[in-house]
Amino acid sequence: MSNYHIKHLEEYFQIHRKSVRDPEGFWEEVAEEHFIWRKRWDKVLSWDFEKPEVKWFEGAKLNITENCIDRHLRIRGEKTAILFEPNDPKEEAEHISYQQLYERVNQFANVLKDQGIKKGDRVCIYLPMIPELAISTLACARIGAIHSVVFAGFSATALSTRINDSDCKMVIASDGSYRGSKTIDLKGIVDEALEECPGVETVLVAKRIHSDIEMKEDRDKWLQPLLDKADTECEPEIMDAEDPLFILYTSGSTGMPKGMVHTTAGYMVYTAYTFKNVFQYRENDVYWCTADIGWITGHSYIVYGPLANGATTVMFEGVPNYPDWGRFWEIVDKHKVTQFYTAPTAIRALAKENLECVEKHDLSSLKVLGSVGEPINEEAWHWYNDNIGKKKCPIVDTWWQTETGGIMISPIPYLTPTKPTYATFPLPGIQLSLMDEKGEEITENQVDGRLCIKFPWPSMARTIWGNHKRYKETYFSTYKNQYFTGDGALRDEVGYYRITGRVDDVIIVSGHNLGTAPIEDAINEHQAVAESAIVGFPHDIKGNALYGYVILKESGESRNHDNLRKEINQIITEHIGPIAKLDKIQFTSGLPKTRSGKIMRRILRKIACNETDNLGDTSTLLNPEVVQEIMDNVLKNLKI
Ligand code: PRX
Repeated sequence: MSNYHIKHLEEYFQIHRKSVRDPEGFWEEVAEEHFIWRKRWDKVLSWDFEKPEVKWFEGAKLNITENCIDRHLRIRGEKTAILFEPNDPKEEAEHISYQQLYERVNQFANVLKDQGIKKGDRVCIYLPMIPELAISTLACARIGAIHSVVFAGFSATALSTRINDSDCKMVIASDGSYRGSKTIDLKGIVDEALEECPGVETVLVAKRIHSDIEMKEDRDKWLQPLLDKADTECEPEIMDAEDPLFILYTSGSTGMPKGMVHTTAGYMVYTAYTFKNVFQYRENDVYWCTADIGWITGHSYIVYGPLANGATTVMFEGVPNYPDWGRFWEIVDKHKVTQFYTAPTAIRALAKENLECVEKHDLSSLKVLGSVGEPINEEAWHWYNDNIGKKKCPIVDTWWQTETGGIMISPIPYLTPTKPTYATFPLPGIQLSLMDEKGEEITENQVDGRLCIKFPWPSMARTIWGNHKRYKETYFSTYKNQYFTGDGALRDEVGYYRITGRVDDVIIVSGHNLGTAPIEDAINEHQAVAESAIVGFPHDIKGNALYGYVILKESGESRNHDNLRKEINQIITEHIGPIAKLDKIQFTSGLPKTRSGKIMRRILRKIACNETDNLGDTSTLLNPEVVQEIMDNVLKNLKI
């Protein structure tokens, strides 16, 4: 029995038990079997959740790109590594073989070196879903530079905050991007962001939309001519197991985004292992994850996990509704996709459209369907199962986080019986716990609690860039000796887990994590706004949408409310991006507060969700008249 590829349910139980009994032996075996190491580790694991400090495969030396690329050249040199499907279906798809990927990554790595990038430097990547995005992340890894990919839907302010937080020396961008029928001026956003970023020395610009853009002398350089001149060989930088591989920002409940730091060896081992098992990946499969590489799903399950397994991974530049709502299924049909991984918000949007969009296409190549990013509701689950999987493809509802680096809870397709809305069992090596309000672990089943993880796993984020204290406070201080996920979960009678949602001030909108504080900070910048509070409420397609309660300063009271709503959403778009826009805005004279001055979001949430029959305990409420006012306004059906 190999630990690496689980083939029977009984084997899953055995392997999971073994991974709990002897986690180090378990991961050591996985690491030994499947990777190239320049030097073996001295110690598999050392850990302390108090500090917190976690190290996997200490003493080992490696380069992740040797494992994702070089290792495959001999037997898979001609095999497609990245299959790029452009925004416009009339443009031809590009098949990048492992050999070509090797050459392109090396050329890019040589360009980075020529531009003065060294091991440990931070490079910000702000690119659309074009091959250069995957290639530049790998090029950074090749030379030991730390990549920080920022999703290219973020605004200039969000971009500059992230560039400055990790002191990036370079930005890799493109002239613009295609998004369905629209084009976006990405370079313009970069230029605006860089007005606030004195540390950036170089901007490498890929040509995608061939727009007429300004190039700042000495700072901005066209990428292609540099690549054309670069050598196709670049010796990989030999990295320590615990050297940082990348930083990826995620929203928190307070203002600044958290730059989660992932390190090299553990991340590689875990993403490779989980990719293989969760998608039951076999040679010659064509795997497609629709996420953007700007999110963790793209890092782990478009780039590193699939490539570490020598897989063919599809990269799609476009959107699900361009040129029409059949695009996803057209791509599945065209490339004979075998594993398809997307988010519930996309499934819900697709399910609203005419079934003809699906039925025109042959989906018989599909073997496994995946879901990630938010709870999948029962209706969406059944639609996906009936119409896409034709009841023959298991759905893997995968629960994980930017912080966990890889999938933590998921069925193993064809082995674990699926149950709608349940992510089912923890993967091997993962030791979950449910905690009650008193901080005690709940041992029985059929209860809900707060989801924690009590033992380290190889791909966990090691710190928050530049702020280890916040890392400790956020994840390791709520419960002693536990990593706290911030999610609530229910465990059923057989031990299956169902994620019930966030228990903090993070709201997941269309699969994107949004902290309430940064949005409130943005709104409060409006000169007519005195204070604001954001909560989530259920939305048919987005899962959750945002509801803002806004108190105006005297100067704003006489203003036209419709205009103010537009301006508030405009400010949010500028500070964060259009994904954080509010669906509803209610102006109010006050916010419900406790006697100690804390906003009682629970009450605001109930009102937004139309659950005003039972507001719960209001004994600590300082100003009940405000609650009455807010509810009266809703009842009066004021336009909000
Ligand atoms: O609340 C959980 C939800 O998404 C959060 C993590 O978001 P992010 O770091 O952006 O990573 C998303 C992609 C891995 C979690 O704390 N979440 C993620 N997957 C699921 C989920 N909620 C329910 N079911 C899931 N399968």
